[in-house]
Amino acid sequence: MEKNFPENFLWGAATSSAQIEGGWNEGGKGASVMDILGGSINGSVFRNQTKEVMPDVFYPSHVGVDFYHNFKEDIRMFSELGLKAYRMSIAWTRIFPNGTEHTANEEGLKFYDDVFDELAKYNIEPIVTILHYDAPLNLANEFGGWPNRKMIDFYVKYCETLFTRYKGKVRNWITFNEINCLLVPFSILTAGTVNMDLKSEDNTDQLRFQALHNQFVASALAVQLGHKIDKDNKIGCMIAYMCNYPLTCRPEDILMAQKEDQIKNMLSGDVQVRGAYPRFAKRYFKDNNIKIEMLPEDDEILKKGTVDFYSLSYYMTNCIGTDETQEKTAGNLVYGMKNPYLEATEWGWQIDPLGLRWVLNNVYDRYQLPIMIVENGMGTADVVENGEINDDYRIDYLQKHIKQISESLEDGVEVIAYTPWSALDLVSLSGGTMKKRYGFIYVDKDDHGEGTLKRIKKKSFYWYRNVIDTNGEEI
Ligand code: BG6
Repeated sequence: MEKNFPENFLWGAATSSAQIEGGWNEGGKGASVMDILGGSINGSVFRNQTKEVMPDVFYPSHVGVDFYHNFKEDIRMFSELGLKAYRMSIAWTRIFPNGTEHTANEEGLKFYDDVFDELAKYNIEPIVTILHYDAPLNLANEFGGWPNRKMIDFYVKYCETLFTRYKGKVRNWITFNEINCLLVPFSILTAGTVNMDLKSEDNTDQLRFQALHNQFVASALAVQLGHKIDKDNKIGCMIAYMCNYPLTCRPEDILMAQKEDQIKNMLSGDVQVRGAYPRFAKRYFKDNNIKIEMLPEDDEILKKGTVDFYSLSYYMTNCIGTDETQEKTAGNLVYGMKNPYLEATEWGWQIDPLGLRWVLNNVYDRYQLPIMIVENGMGTADVVENGEINDDYRIDYLQKHIKQISESLEDGVEVIAYTPWSALDLVSLSGGTMKKRYGFIYVDKDDHGEGTLKRIKKKSFYWYRNVIDTNGEEI
């Protein structure tokens, strides 16, 4: 029995546009960088990337799970699940198909109006990510994506359009999904550029930090604008918390883990929450010969554009250390070393509920800002047996993580929202597979696009409904 979740705690679930919507070229939508990612290459986490949309290639995002046509019924199911909040993202290319237009696409704007109205009907609070890995393909081709400073203007215009149009309908915004994943060499999604794939020689720290800086400035300008347009707007950062424990108590391992935490996790949070680069960044840039091009006004922009809340994704933890022979772990954008004390999912992601408590305490000690956990969940190959999905393993995973949120609340950490990944099954980011399922609602579709798209409530659906219903007292 837990009794410490605040009355207004936002119990929710999450998705992203390119992973659920489909309708990739309907309603005036343009192609995003997601729309040229095919299926998995030889079953790996890497996807078959084409230069443009080719007629004979299967692209999982093109149909997604057809939320575009089915959103009313999906949102009705979310209400049945009892969601108080729904974290979703807007597809930039529905609003500005090429990213460069002067006028926004009315049909795209209208689609999200309809989605927000439908959510309002059931008192479900939207938490909206402005960019979740699906920047316009045209901006990638014409401008090379985020390493180019011109992206800032396009993005800010897009934000201004959203803040103005959805004023009063949306109050919680996230500027960039997992902004710190730009530092992991996997960049078509994070950097929005087609010119910088994993193997490219251009995929350097220099370029990644430049792209990240441009996103920091874009985010800070968006925050200022969002506050100006509606003082009730709450705008947050979103960090993929890549928690890496020292592999051993060797002092070298401890220091290595600290440095990793500083650069991979803290740097982005510090800039977005505190409004300036942290001191350790200077040393890192010097040691690695990174020279970021900044304009004189950037310092002031970052300072004035600090966020109202901190949000994070948390799936697993890894280890880091000097012993190169230690076995590696799996992940989508994140990798590390095996922790002998942890079990892993069938995709090799190490399950670590206690690590969530460590992360929440760590983040709150540093920033004292309200925290939203906007992604957490277990990807598994669920099986339908006699029309049912008995996903006890998912219940177990979520239950243990919620327990640690409850412990963190007891520790005095201000957690205000929990939106597990994902509301319904969707196209997985790594490998573009459907087989790796996260949802409370099963969707009948396979890796080749076959299936009826029928929705089935999993066992975890009923379990989570009760968690929400009892405000976390029964988990
Ligand atoms: C997060 C992303 O990194 O991980 C999501 O924000 C993604 O978009 C989620 O789906 C799970 O990763 P994957 O590769 O298993 O889908």
